Amino acid sequence: MDVFEQWESEVRGYCRTFPTVFKKASNARQIDEAGRSYIDFFAGAGVLNFGHNNPRMKQALIDFINADGVAHSLDMFTDVKRAFIQAFAELILKPRGMTHKMQFTGPTGTNAVEAALKLARRVTGRRSVLAFSHGFHGMTLGSLACTANEYFRNAAGVPLEHVQRLSLEQPLDTLAAEMADSSSGYEKPAAILVEVIQAEGGVNVLSEDWLKALRAFARQVGALFIIDDIQVGCGRTGSYFSFDGMDLDPDIVCLAKGIGGFGTPLAMNLAKPEHDRHWSPGEHTGTFRGQGLSFVAGREALRYFEDETLMAEVRRKGAFMAEKLNDIARAHSGQNFEVRGRGMIQALDTHDGAFAKTVVSQCFDNGLLIGGCGTAGRVLKLMPPLTIPDDDLEKGLGILENALRSVVTAA
Ligand SMILES: Cc1ncc(COP(=O)(O)O)c(C=O)c1O
Repeated sequence: MDVFEQWESEVRGYCRTFPTVFKKASNARQIDEAGRSYIDFFAGAGVLNFGHNNPRMKQALIDFINADGVAHSLDMFTDVKRAFIQAFAELILKPRGMTHKMQFTGPTGTNAVEAALKLARRVTGRRSVLAFSHGFHGMTLGSLACTANEYFRNAAGVPLEHVQRLSLEQPLDTLAAEMADSSSGYEKPAAILVEVIQAEGGVNVLSEDWLKALRAFARQVGALFIIDDIQVGCGRTGSYFSFDGMDLDPDIVCLAKGIGGFGTPLAMNLAKPEHDRHWSPGEHTGTFRGQGLSFVAGREALRYFEDETLMAEVRRKGAFMAEKLNDIARAHSGQNFEVRGRGMIQALDTHDGAFAKTVVSQCFDNGLLIGGCGTAGRVLKLMPPLTIPDDDLEKGLGILENALRSVVTAA
């Protein structure tokens, strides 16, 4: 590991939590150079919904490369991009009655959010955006301005402007009236940017009622309603979008992470056509918008949504995870652990960052990769690949249970 310490930037992060050199990976397992196998409850922070080296995607990628497919094409037309767009329209948009246009941005979540903010500002002619406490939207200046975390914001080195912050679940009834009052100090917002489940922010599950009120509020004040589904979309919650069935009718949806399928980078915004038409050609570019490998693997990922099999499994396994976490919380009732989540993003809020960090480290020592999130990393976030076998899921939960017990006992 000396090479990394000598040559790689101090900014490196996750490798400090998981200090080993990984060499192989398959579904929900990662294996290091020493041959040690780890169960993966981290899944590349929500990228690997369909597991490491998903066999169907692997084969499709090998075939694509062997056939000299076009791996890079900026935003030129390619056969694999067409296949992805067609499948996405047929399997995801049409069944939901969505007519949104697909905009491929640079292949990171933060770039999708930047593009969504630009479009909302263009459409409304306004500057300010409403974002939420504990929200996480990325690291570039526009999306970082919407991200709440102080540690990340401080790294900007410049003021992060044009964002007004609201608290989660804050009552909205008087806010619209205040916005209409020219002396309230509120600027009329171009957009409301929200995660249905704040993943990095601590797995905060926003209530459907409040999200509906927020949607109505956006209409009332003439702001675009943007859902950032970058971490909890693509099947994570037991349906394709985290907001399915809530009748939220978003103006823009930001997607990234899981849509590339294999861990191959891809990001895409869905924007209602009446908004999308405000773009002029090439106004938001990015060299890596035409990722052939991502379109191929992403197309394969969409096959999981041809029927309900995987989503039913996500709901079943998610319920099992929640049940197990609730058992653990009950067994340590003095700790006031709190269980939150939906589908296969589940979490245990330990209310103590140092405690959670010790648990994460013990889990790693015992062969489980799990990450902390929320304020000071106090929330243990469980986000295994959706395809994890039951046996690995049970073993991983067992490792977590033992680590929690030993850290509670040692305290
Ligand atoms: C909800 C959400 N939005 C945006 C981002 C930023 O994505 P990226 O790291 O690919 O820029 C993330 C990353 O964790 C995220 O969880």
